[in-house]
Amino acid sequence: MILLGVNIDHCATVRQARYRGYAETVGGPVEPDPVLLATLAERAGADGITIHLREDRRHIQERDVHRLREVAQTRINLEMACTPAMTAFALALKPESVCLVPESREEISTEGGLDVVGQRERVRTVCEAMRKAGILVSLFIDADAAQIAASAELGAPWVELHTGAWANAYYGPKRAMEFARLVAGAKQAHAAGLVVNAGHGINYVNVAEVRTLPHVHELNIGHSIISRALTTGIEQAVREMKAQMNPVMN
Ligand code: PXP
Repeated sequence: MILLGVNIDHCATVRQARYRGYAETVGGPVEPDPVLLATLAERAGADGITIHLREDRRHIQERDVHRLREVAQTRINLEMACTPAMTAFALALKPESVCLVPESREEISTEGGLDVVGQRERVRTVCEAMRKAGILVSLFIDADAAQIAASAELGAPWVELHTGAWANAYYGPKRAMEFARLVAGAKQAHAAGLVVNAGHGINYVNVAEVRTLPHVHELNIGHSIISRALTTGIEQAVREMKAQMNPVMN
């Protein structure tokens, strides 16, 4: 059974589009609430909730993460940059896992995963701090032999293979080549003792292929699930608003 980590960042993206800087002062409902969404996702079977507290705070805010820590019934997977500030934040929060992701150009490898090879010591420092605190570390990397070998050497128990290049190539001539790269990466990571997760750009169509990746333990999916929730929820939302507008007719 492949596990599903639901990424709720884009719920916060929608909230921030209206309420950036006002969350504490509005007084009424500040919506949509990513923590409420996380609770509903768990009720529907999510195996974990993934959130990315970015340094630029463009979507998820610290308050969201603390509130989620109080109510989460499954697991929190905190995506974070490989920085001392985020390390301190994670050690205080104690998520079940952290996923180290690149946030600035110089941390990015060829396809967009974390460049573990290029910043081995920096990644090692965070891995060791997390290991001592009992927090699992996942490294979000390309399916690249050198990045996988470096991840295993650092003792990270998990990797998350970046599926973005394959997802972008899904309708083009490079899809088979990109998928073959993911398959080879998954096999190499598994053989090196790493737990293999995958994520980025997975949707309701391409999941049919990515679920055939060997050894895959968990998929982290955000944008497509949030998009589907908007689409499937619009009819009820409109009905409810019309009923509020015209109460005597109901
Ligand atoms: N995994 C990681 C490490 C990510 O950074 C993201 C994007 O926030 C995802 C998975 C989810 O990607 P998507 O929103 O395209 O499903």
